[in-house]
Amino acid sequence: MSPLFEPFRIGTLESSNRIVIAPMCQYSAVDGSANDWHLIHLGHLALSGAGLLTVEATAVEAVGRITAGDLGLYSDANEAALARVLGAVRSQSPIKVAIQLAHAGRKASSHTPWEGGAQVPIADARGWQAVAPSALPHRAGEAAPAALDAAGLLRIRTAFADTARRAARLGFDGIELHAAHGYLLHEFLSPLANQRDDAYGGSAEKRMRFPLEVFDAIRAAVPADKPVWARLSATDWVAGAWDIDDAVAFSQALKARGCAAIHVSSGGVSPQQAIQPVAGYQVPFAARIRAEVGLPTIAVGLITEPQHAHEIITGGQADAVALARAMLYDPRWPWHAAAALGAQVHAPHQYWRSQPREFKDLFVNASFGAR
Ligand SMILES: Cc1cc2nc3c(=O)[nH]c(=O)nc-3n(C[C@H](O)[C@H](O)[C@H](O)COP(=O)(O)O)c2cc1C
Repeated sequence: MSPLFEPFRIGTLESSNRIVIAPMCQYSAVDGSANDWHLIHLGHLALSGAGLLTVEATAVEAVGRITAGDLGLYSDANEAALARVLGAVRSQSPIKVAIQLAHAGRKASSHTPWEGGAQVPIADARGWQAVAPSALPHRAGEAAPAALDAAGLLRIRTAFADTARRAARLGFDGIELHAAHGYLLHEFLSPLANQRDDAYGGSAEKRMRFPLEVFDAIRAAVPADKPVWARLSATDWVAGAWDIDDAVAFSQALKARGCAAIHVSSGGVSPQQAIQPVAGYQVPFAARIRAEVGLPTIAVGLITEPQHAHEIITGGQADAVALARAMLYDPRWPWHAAAALGAQVHAPHQYWRSQPREFKDLFVNASFGAR
């Protein structure tokens, strides 16, 4: 059988296979609270046969949302709404479920992608003042974020810890810290966004300080057996900025603090980024982090073909692959991958009769009869 369909562990989290559904913002919450859209969206992905489903970037405070529609977990109402969605998923699927905790930093107060994604002015009823390591806008011409002072840093650290506590209470199987894509924690890491001259800026070590403090705060807030890991950008794709050497050092520092895995993405902090997005373009970064850091590593980015996913695992480049767009396009991707690779996948018994004749052994434990 293809190792893509062998179990995969992140600490105590045992995923039935090595296919991870990447976090995907839906921009469809109200005041941070999940609703029927999230129930349907996560519900259908929970039937996909993937081993691990990651809930979208979930803001730890209202100003840390990218858009006014971002999911949040900073209030009792947010927690109750997510409990309903997670409860529905749990009642119908054995898929493991993680949540990505996030703060948008200077990319907060944006329109949704389908509205164009531009910054929403602070004066607009749907806009607010974004915060960041330094008062530098993401894009020239945009309103600058407010540079965080000591009280702001403490507030955000505390918000991450409080949200992690809520996530653990909800029973998520794991917590992914979003330190990628030009959002707050990546902004601290990158010299392009962090030009502080205090203990949180300057050298790479100082730029890593706040993200590591946030990781420590989360790790301390949840039970020791709850795996916490990080998603990071392995490079800014801008010469002289954050790069893979920095990402290896950051991953090693995370490992020393009890990080359970590294999810390796890239880019997002600068409009100057020069990316050639070809199939698997971020996989070499995952391979290097896996080899040099020795934590379970998830590769992501334009992995769309089952054979390619299989080769990433057999080649030792990553322990698991995450898919985003391909899962939206084909929510049964893991079924089709299992069929193509001669493997087995979990499917709901209500759907067992869909097993094609040529793949008689595709669904785990499937059997059916009628009279
Ligand atoms: C609709 C959509 C929403 C996304 N939201 C998030 C998010 O919440 N957090 C995150 O880290 N990445 C997010 N991403 C990036 C994906 O997780 C993934 O890294 C990226 O799309 C590359 O993988 P792919 O080629 O399989 O789509 C999003 C991508 C899409 C398409």
